[in-house]
Amino acid sequence: MDKGKTFYITTPIYYVNARPHIGHAYTTIVCDAIARRKRLLGYDTFFLTGTDEHGQKIERSATAAGTTPQKFADSVASEFRALFERMGITYNDFIRTTEPRHKQGAQELWKRLQEKGFIYKGTYTGQYCVSDEAYIDGAKPGDPCPDCGRITETVSEENYYFKLSAFADKLLKHYQQHPDFIRPETRRNEVIAFVKSGLRDLSVSRSTFKWGIPVPGDPKHVMYVWLDALSNYCTAAGFGSKEQDEQEKFKRYWPADVHMIGKEIIRFHAVYWPAFLMAADLPLPKAVIAHGWLLFEESKMSKSRGNIVRAESVIEVMGNDALRYFLLREVPFGQDGSFSFDAVVQRYNSDLANDLGNLSSRTLTMINRYFGGSIPYPSPLVAKKGADDAIRDQAQATIAEFNQLFDEYQFNRALECAWTLVASVNKYLVEQEPWIVAEKEGEENKARLATILYTAAEALRIVTALTSPVLPESAEKIWQQLGLGDITKFNLSDLKWGQLPLGGKLGKVEPVFPRADKSTIERMQQMEQERGRSSAPQPAAVAQTSTSATSAPAGEGARPGQPATQAAHGPTDAAPAPKPAPAAPNGKISIDDFLKVEMRVGQVKHAEKVKGADKLLRLEVDIGSEVRQVVAGIALAYEPEKLIGRKVVIVANLAPRKLRGLESNGMIVAASAGAEDRPVLASFLEDVPVGAKLK
Ligand code: MSP
Repeated sequence: MDKGKTFYITTPIYYVNARPHIGHAYTTIVCDAIARRKRLLGYDTFFLTGTDEHGQKIERSATAAGTTPQKFADSVASEFRALFERMGITYNDFIRTTEPRHKQGAQELWKRLQEKGFIYKGTYTGQYCVSDEAYIDGAKPGDPCPDCGRITETVSEENYYFKLSAFADKLLKHYQQHPDFIRPETRRNEVIAFVKSGLRDLSVSRSTFKWGIPVPGDPKHVMYVWLDALSNYCTAAGFGSKEQDEQEKFKRYWPADVHMIGKEIIRFHAVYWPAFLMAADLPLPKAVIAHGWLLFEESKMSKSRGNIVRAESVIEVMGNDALRYFLLREVPFGQDGSFSFDAVVQRYNSDLANDLGNLSSRTLTMINRYFGGSIPYPSPLVAKKGADDAIRDQAQATIAEFNQLFDEYQFNRALECAWTLVASVNKYLVEQEPWIVAEKEGEENKARLATILYTAAEALRIVTALTSPVLPESAEKIWQQLGLGDITKFNLSDLKWGQLPLGGKLGKVEPVFPRADKSTIERMQQMEQERGRSSAPQPAAVAQTSTSATSAPAGEGARPGQPATQAAHGPTDAAPAPKPAPAAPNGKISIDDFLKVEMRVGQVKHAEKVKGADKLLRLEVDIGSEVRQVVAGIALAYEPEKLIGRKVVIVANLAPRKLRGLESNGMIVAASAGAEDRPVLASFLEDVPVGAKLK
């Protein structure tokens, strides 16, 4: 195969501090659909995914989970891999940044940058966002990170710097000469504005923690996690390897054709990464494509917000294709889209069970019934020009339009256009009434029946071929029912009207999309709750979707009938209502209920009064894996300055809640003392590590 026929596509590599959820599945499914299509078009396709395993965030999550970063990473990386297998993702390689091949390649890249004079040593003092693993220029102590909103930490380190400032003009020139390098247009404009506003040199090493790839020649430092992570796109393709076949692989596939990413990591991919590559004299990827977020209950699905849905809950109940179809059809690519179980079921029933399912089952059942399961010969003598030709013409036009829209990443519109054809064929069947024609005597009627069913079956074949990258499992079934064998062997670039083999034998005809009923939604919700419960004791997997608060909020958020334990952040309506666990006798709760509450030791890093609210304090509390902002109703009992450094108990898995416009991410546990219900913070007599779990 010549080099022109290769196609290299990557997903971002996933952080292992969170277990996989539907947001991660989304990026991966989009890439899988593109990769499958390219394979069907005859490209030698290399589809890469993997996990991003270094950095302080992961180190802290591992400590909080009471394990080593490596074991922690091993366990979450294998969850990602298992999920992708289960989802039928056809990745060609799964890279982990803790693998020797990656470390070697990343160090090789570092050496190149250094040899070419783009890395130097300097000192940085300023604010750092641990969650994003990024320095926040211009931020003051206590300021939140402008990207993720989490409170930044003050750090001062001697670091290595990359001369990013030297690349501003070259980057701008590249964007101008390659208008398709960053897509969609809004992201491209954003990036151009960012680069035009000036680029500062970038700190590319850390010495305050150890969990990373050692800097070649100076192992006190580890490589900045984004330099480490971005280089995966090259190292997985063989960069830095001494093996000849790996070197050839690199020549063959690099530069990548598409880096598919979420919109929040565009700067890393469209500014830093091309600058690193330019500095190393390596070719740049052809395109960086940013998709929007999957929202659940109006906000981005994420671990820290606690509004996560797992892909397993959908695929185990409704199958892989239902999730793939929903994500690609419902979310206008590039924009944010909402996820709900309800919407998945509606989409499935209307488009798959009704439209495509009906077309497939009635066409094939009639071919079985009236033609003994052989594809009938259409007859020009009985053709109804208007009706039959209209379907043929529409099908031909659909092929062209679908291809164009799909290649422009407008998946929802491509699918919409295929479904317009499905609707037309269903309407054609209703109007042509083959079941009535079948009851009439004579050769002419038989020929007319053959023509109608051939037309419907041929249109079905075309829709199936076009949509198979999105619906691989169902398309394979329909293809076999059409008697066409293995769909993965089909060359999609040959697709045109009139290729259905006349007289060909159908396979066994069975329904492909059984209708989903009300219980489907309940089953998915139930699975979600069960998963939430079973993951509760594993801090590695803190990703609660349901919260079970033990107390009502105190202070400004107080509700009547306050119990003896107080807190400043109560349950919120935003969290999906958990199904009540079976009540234990005498009003007691079950151990399962208790395990739903994740209580941890936190340390107050910063405290201040909340303007206009006498009872509230805004706290920043280090809980081991991250620093949380909590708004607590304890201002009448505690001076903010006296709380700094104090260890407290925090309920860490409450859904966030806004108090006086401030997001509170957790609840500080306090007793309610005396007649005036004075809050008294829960504390420990012995020393306890930050992040330790209470159980
Ligand atoms: N490790 C970095 C990427 C390094 S690439 C060299 C990272 N990891 S991540 O796990 O946080 O995110 C990986 C991808 O998942 C991103 O593209 C991100 O946008 C996507 N998603 C995570 N949550 C998502 C949603 N709720 N919705 C859509 N995509 C989301 O960033």
